[in-house]
Amino acid sequence: MGCIHADYEGKPAIAIINTWSDINPCHSHLRERAEDVKRGVWQAGGFPLEMPAMTLAETFQKPTTMMYRNLLAMETEELLRSYPADGCVLLGGCDKTTPALLMGAISMNLPTIFVPAGPMLRGNWRGQILGSGADVMKYWAERRAGTIDREAWIEIEEGIARSAGTCMTMGTASTMTSVAEVLGFSLPGASSIPAVDANHHKMANLSGRRIVEMVWEDLKARDILSKASFENAVAAVLALSGSTNAVVHLPALAGRAGIKITLDTFDALSRTTPVLANLRPSGKYLMEDFYYAGGLPALLKALASRLDLSCRTVTGRTLGDNIANAQTYNFDVIRAPDRPLLPSGGLVILRGNLAPKGAVIKVAAASPNLLRHRGRAIVFESYDEMNARIDDPALDVDAHSVLVLRNAGPKGAPGMPEWGNLPIPQKLLKHGVRDMVRVSDSRMSGTNYGTCILHVCPESFVGGPLALLREGDIVELDVEQRQLNMLVSVEELSRRRQVWHPREGIYPRGYGRLYLEHVRQADEGCDFDFLEGIEPIPEPEIH
Ligand code: FES
Repeated sequence: MGCIHADYEGKPAIAIINTWSDINPCHSHLRERAEDVKRGVWQAGGFPLEMPAMTLAETFQKPTTMMYRNLLAMETEELLRSYPADGCVLLGGCDKTTPALLMGAISMNLPTIFVPAGPMLRGNWRGQILGSGADVMKYWAERRAGTIDREAWIEIEEGIARSAGTCMTMGTASTMTSVAEVLGFSLPGASSIPAVDANHHKMANLSGRRIVEMVWEDLKARDILSKASFENAVAAVLALSGSTNAVVHLPALAGRAGIKITLDTFDALSRTTPVLANLRPSGKYLMEDFYYAGGLPALLKALASRLDLSCRTVTGRTLGDNIANAQTYNFDVIRAPDRPLLPSGGLVILRGNLAPKGAVIKVAAASPNLLRHRGRAIVFESYDEMNARIDDPALDVDAHSVLVLRNAGPKGAPGMPEWGNLPIPQKLLKHGVRDMVRVSDSRMSGTNYGTCILHVCPESFVGGPLALLREGDIVELDVEQRQLNMLVSVEELSRRRQVWHPREGIYPRGYGRLYLEHVRQADEGCDFDFLEGIEPIPEPEIH
């Protein structure tokens, strides 16, 4: 390694867990940022050790990155346990990497700083601003409707991702890096800095310096976490109109700290928390605009009366101290509480005989006219069946129908992929239909929009009531009453239950089998049952 004894003797060893990979365009700058972190560690008198960990590249991984979130969490925990690390800096940001890295680090409970990859620059196509994910779906629908040609579609592809960094809408990546910052794991403002801004290098360097101080202060991951810090994170997700994926990841993160966050936590806070961030897919702007408008510290300051400002953070100061000098520079991007985008209810938890353990809808990204709706169910048994039938001209569907996808949950798919934004049937697209009520036990990309009811729980694969729904049944949605029901009698459901048979899991061995045997349901965060809690694990012995 070319180090002399004095380089490391008596110095804190800082593990830099890096999810850089050629397969992950969102992290293509993280090799470089690791050098910034190392520089900071050296400058503060520490000894940096970069350790690569598996990346979770949202756009490429089969069947879905969600299936591997827990594997990265295990890898992070065991890297930190099995190597001599005194503290760690986590480099990630593409959707599942953030919760995975943090879950592992919370379980290991060393001093920890999270360096978010940062959002990419705004997209551009023929003078129009493009947003990740949301505009992919929008223009893909136009392509399927025949209103744009292949040449235009390729131009859109080439214009939508202009730089390194994560999706620049308020999708899962920006939601979860914001969560990391609100929980206290990142330096103030870190999550809003665009990936290729010079301030991103500085933030990485300062994180390297700070982690060394944290080791000497013995400020560990779980020292900054509390029920209140998680409630702050839930409130921030709601004010950001963040991704529905946070509803799965936050209970899992809390579970690693021995803290319980449930769907009821989201439901209660959603009734009183205004949506303040005017960001796509719910609003108008992108992350670059959010950064220039003051970023997350400014939004948290606007939300301050609803937060517990006494929570500790990696700075060694409180959340309140960190945001004390924050300012908003554009009140259309970051709204004042008396001029919100929505007064409350950005995300709503639904229950009813279709989802006794809950389901979630992102109201801010749904069509207001569909929030109270009754329609005939069109039921797809699997993703493949949906793809085979959805554009069939003979499909008996109209704009009032409710599209239903099952066997798409944590065990059924498996991995609970982001299939919940079911495509609108082509024949309806051609008649101008752009949104319908859709119901599934899967997730939806945080960058997507539409009246999509997600995470129906328990999932159909384990016998949740969604398994009993039949084509032609009437499904009733009432968001104001927080209800999702199928209008089928108890007697009929019981008859259907008697003839329902579970499917076989598809993995005879390997990680897939471990996953199927131990993954929790969506309302509990989809962690593995044996990874939850704070039971101490003995240090491995050295032989
Ligand atoms: Fe990586 Fe969206 S694909 S953040």
